[in-house]
Amino acid sequence: MKTTIIPEIVQGLKVEQKYISSKFFYDDAGSRIFQEIMQMQDYYLTDSEFEILSLQAEKIHCALQFSEPFNIIELGAGDGFKTFKLLEYFVSKNIHFNYVPIDISQEAISMLCKKLKERLPGLHIQPQVGDYFEILKGMSTETIPNLLLFLGSNIGNYLRADAADLLRLFNDNMNVGDKLLIGFDLKKNPLTIQKAYFDSHGVTKRFNLNLLLRMNREFDADFKLDDFDFYCHYNPSNGQVKSYLVSLKVQTVYFKSINERITFQQNELIWTELSKKYSVSGIETLAKLTGFKTNQHFLDCKHYFTDSLWEK
Ligand code: TRP
Repeated sequence: MKTTIIPEIVQGLKVEQKYISSKFFYDDAGSRIFQEIMQMQDYYLTDSEFEILSLQAEKIHCALQFSEPFNIIELGAGDGFKTFKLLEYFVSKNIHFNYVPIDISQEAISMLCKKLKERLPGLHIQPQVGDYFEILKGMSTETIPNLLLFLGSNIGNYLRADAADLLRLFNDNMNVGDKLLIGFDLKKNPLTIQKAYFDSHGVTKRFNLNLLLRMNREFDADFKLDDFDFYCHYNPSNGQVKSYLVSLKVQTVYFKSINERITFQQNELIWTELSKKYSVSGIETLAKLTGFKTNQHFLDCKHYFTDSLWEK
């Protein structure tokens, strides 16, 4: 009998509470739609963090209290747009450091390095392509201080236990005195959060429906996009934004290339993303739980977002 291995994205549709892991959003088309999300007026997260890193680079540098040279290691550097302002400040003050951007995408790293070489010719860059943990393990024997960057609201996409595991893993690969600058989206007026995730232009809906297009393409599936909708809910008591695709009718989708059929009930949900919002005290509790001391929080002027500095 011929058995095919069921791909991870399809496996999540075969369980009682259907889900798709959020890492599947970011194919080429999805990454482009995410760029559009980041440019939306209502998606405040990008502007808030950009403001912090633009206006508070000097304060962040003072808080480090590192001897030179040191490393700045960025986990999931992406296009490096936010980090540019911080690097620009450090270079302009002739601070002696190496920038180590790490990303799983070779294309993202190549573009980032090209841009940085043009715009900050004095910067020492040691780019690394691959899995952050493997690369971090290799760094922990170095004797110069390390600042890890985990920006955006990456951490918000993890459930509590998974976030704690990830942070402990960072901690295990750091030396005593090394620091972590980590982004958290803060709890705020629930309507502000709702508008950022449930936008009126339907960009976020397109971002979510792209998951179905991706399966149509990759597994020769026959999802009909008109028969699915997007729904998103912010629960201010636990800080969780949860995003879903909703099946608008009873329907069976056929995945031709793996010969699988999946039935969706009317109004059945596929959970696609968690975007957790934190309080400052919740951040400090998480730091303590995972072996860190909180040094300082750097908030934007609206108090929407924080880049928090932790020390091992
Ligand atoms: N992961 C990002 C976030 O939590 C991306 C994102 C923005 C997103 N809006 C979304 C993911 C809506 C799913 C649904 O902010």
